[in-house]
Amino acid sequence: MDKLIILLLIFALISTICEGKFWGITHVKIINGLEPPADVTVHCKSKDDDLGARQLQYNASFQFQFRPNFWGSTQFYCSFVWPKQIQWFDIFKHSRDDCKFCTWIVKTGGPCMYNYTSESFDQCHPWNKKI
Ligand SMILES: *[C@@H]1O[C@H](CO)[C@@H](O)[C@H](O)[C@H]1NC(C)=O
Ligand SMILES: *[C@@H]1O[C@H](CO)[C@@H](O)[C@H](O)[C@H]1NC(C)=O
Repeated sequence: MDKLIILLLIFALISTICEGKFWGITHVKIINGLEPPADVTVHCKSKDDDLGARQLQYNASFQFQFRPNFWGSTQFYCSFVWPKQIQWFDIFKHSRDDCKFCTWIVKTGGPCMYNYTSESFDQCHPWNKKI
């Protein structure tokens, strides 16, 4: 009897881990919302992946997807280059972001994440500090 309970607990644990945010695919979308409108070159990387540089016209977007690792340490950071500016931002941090569809709009002061409750880009973050 005890063995059965332990087995069930292990089963529950495994299925929680499997269905949870650990193994699901996360989608990140980046929209150019710079004002005044300007093209922005976005270059995102993680420890293991280099997504390459992409140029986005005003209001254009690009998306990528990945499977966050089991340890919750997945992180993607991007550089954003537009006339007379270069900025960096951690576009995905597992410890900060709980989203499956993470949609960001790039503004002059930093990116803002889409909030599905308020249906607006109201979660604004400053650019990473420059060293
Ligand atoms: C920006 O793109 C969205 C979706 O692609 C579109 O609905 C909207 O009209 C565009 N806005 C401008 C100002 O181009
Ligand atoms: C999203 O919007 C809702 C409704 O305005 C607000 O209560 C909530 O705090 C927002 N979420 C975040 C993470 O800012």
